[in-house]
Amino acid sequence: MRIPFGTISVTKESKKLIAEILASNRLSSGKYVREFEKKFAEVVGVTEAVAVSSGTDAIALALAVLYDFGAERGDEIILPALSFVATGNAVLQAGFTPVFVDVDRKSLNIDPSQIEKVITERTRAIIPVHLMGKPVEMDTINEIARRNNLYVIEDAAEAHGAVYKGRNVGTLGDMAAFSLYVAHIITTVEGGIVTTSNSNFAEVLRSLRSHGRACKCESCVLNTASAYCAKRFKHGNNADIRFIFERIGFSTKMNEMEAAIGIGNIYAYDDILRKRRENLYYLMEKFGEFEPYLATISKEPHEEIGPHALPIVIQENAAFTRDRFVEYLEKSGIETRNLFSSMPTQCSGFRFLGYKTGDFPNSEYVGDHGIHIGVHQDLGKQECDYFLGTVEEFLSENTQKKRKTLSLGIHCSDQACSQDQ
Ligand SMILES: Cc1ncc(COP(=O)(O)O)c(C=O)c1O
Repeated sequence: MRIPFGTISVTKESKKLIAEILASNRLSSGKYVREFEKKFAEVVGVTEAVAVSSGTDAIALALAVLYDFGAERGDEIILPALSFVATGNAVLQAGFTPVFVDVDRKSLNIDPSQIEKVITERTRAIIPVHLMGKPVEMDTINEIARRNNLYVIEDAAEAHGAVYKGRNVGTLGDMAAFSLYVAHIITTVEGGIVTTSNSNFAEVLRSLRSHGRACKCESCVLNTASAYCAKRFKHGNNADIRFIFERIGFSTKMNEMEAAIGIGNIYAYDDILRKRRENLYYLMEKFGEFEPYLATISKEPHEEIGPHALPIVIQENAAFTRDRFVEYLEKSGIETRNLFSSMPTQCSGFRFLGYKTGDFPNSEYVGDHGIHIGVHQDLGKQECDYFLGTVEEFLSENTQKKRKTLSLGIHCSDQACSQDQ
């Protein structure tokens, strides 16, 4: 059996739309991108969504908006040390200084109790990353932000469908950035999107994604219909608004075919989310059996986890290495991914910031001992049971744990059991 990490659902609707788009010869950002944005905003429950070419750009643009609202280049942004490296890259790409905070080992998310220690006069925003779809403790984050006059930009790249105290992730801060990369729950193949209910932020985001132009329309008539733009020469001295650059911009528009894949995913969203959530919660429930060697996250009563993947952290009691575990899984056809790194101390690109190994013990531990595996919509109970059985077999062979305490009994051979005893 093979359990690939990710999958993509290209629906019939998407294929039909792509054929129409190709026939129309209007491929760059236009009416389908706008339609996708509207639908995505509805799914999340915000008034505005601005599509871009990656989740990384979505974070960078959300941050760059802050220059219109009092931030200055070099100002500080607080983020967790543990995340996919894109979160840290985006802060630097937007011209800010990342200030890292360790994570909590259980939730894998930023430890709110460490945040206020690093706030300075130059701090402008906090980026809570809902890692592996597990919602960050947002009431505490928002309270810290309110007390210290900071913006909150959610990194919701992995958190489509996550819910915190009855509210969707993506609505909990000033802006939120989602990745639409192929392994994510709603995908446009490559892509990202910023959600907000602040129309002033959305206007600046639309300018930023197209080089910082003075144009801020939701959809450009020149792109969608080759029509006359009545606003175009109404700026100042009849200058062409398309060539007035109000801010340092990016070039990060989504194209129509990507939007068509995204629209199809939104039609299939409820089904995709349900299947993924069933897989994730099933695996999480069974994972208790693997204590004290392996741990995953848990679900609090006030939340729903966005079913992006199943994180696994090898615990101190395990006498085996991550490499050995990963090799066993991969040889059994189960694809794995590392559970990222402590950006400031395990990613050499961040070395210039001066952090040293040991500064972020929890993030570093997860960076050395964590993996994640897919829970996507093409998997079901059979694949989940195969995975659980493989882990059980691995533990039987690699720990002192008595076979009978591993009650899953999914596919551990008698021989392996007797060897263990
Ligand atoms: C937590 C996190 N932030 C940001 C990103 C960046 O998204 P993208 O790959 O679409 O640029 C990812 C990517 O998966 C991610 O996992």
